[in-house]
Amino acid sequence: MSKKEDINKDNIPVHIAIIMDGNGRWAKERDEPRFVGHQEGVISVKAIVEAATEIDVKYLTFYAFSTENWSRPKEEVDALMSLLVKTIKSEVLDLNKNNIRLLTIGNINDLPKDVQEELNEAIEETSMNTGLSLVIALSYSSRWEIQNAIQNILKDSKKGLVTEEDIDDDLIGNYLTTKNIPDPELLIRTSGEYRISNFLLWQIAYSELYFTNKYWPDFRKEEFFEAVIDYQKRERRFGKTSEQI
Ligand code: IPE
Ligand code: IPE
Ligand code: MG
Repeated sequence: MSKKEDINKDNIPVHIAIIMDGNGRWAKERDEPRFVGHQEGVISVKAIVEAATEIDVKYLTFYAFSTENWSRPKEEVDALMSLLVKTIKSEVLDLNKNNIRLLTIGNINDLPKDVQEELNEAIEETSMNTGLSLVIALSYSSRWEIQNAIQNILKDSKKGLVTEEDIDDDLIGNYLTTKNIPDPELLIRTSGEYRISNFLLWQIAYSELYFTNKYWPDFRKEEFFEAVIDYQKRERRFGKTSEQI
């Protein structure tokens, strides 16, 4: 029996964000080059997209490439970029078939031109879909995003569009690349690392965190359902007492 049966349909997180980690170690354990781990990781992405659709999650965000990942060896960066283009190309049809809308967050202008073109095309072609919003974080880091937001707030302030009194949670949220995307209720990180690695620092202020030792290529549907079940056991108090909930 699938763990899916144990999920409470009335308490599904609207937004789940995932730090996919452990592709390299997965490959190393098999004496394979790191790239093989990334390829296998793509299969996990597809499985989790399917699983999220099955339980009616509305937003699913994958941390696919961080600002810091540009410091990896050039051949790994190039391989990841080619894998990205190849995957998007081959998946657009299925995204449309499944009513999935593709979105990106991050400093997309930093990506190679062919990657940007492929992404823009896929975003455009899926923009009318009303099912799951699949958000890919690329060349993303939270500090970059916050820095960018502050610069834009200052620019708008000089133009008289924003005043000091206007600055609140909502306004700041609207200057982030996640504008219009609700904060994740659940953040998952695989591979046994207990850190956030510059991901969605503002947005996860009250997210439930779920860490698993599984490497990303081993994280499939059942592992995803298990994370959702774990989330559903938690009491989200938002500063209140248990009695007030
Ligand atoms: C995650 O796996 C994928 C990316 C960061 C692009 P890693 O490549 O970080 O795998 P490990 O952490 O070296 O095992
Ligand atoms: C985090 O993984 C970034 C992504 C999943 C894209 P890393 O493997 O780059 O994280 P650190 O640097 O080990 O924290
Ligand atoms: Mg890693």
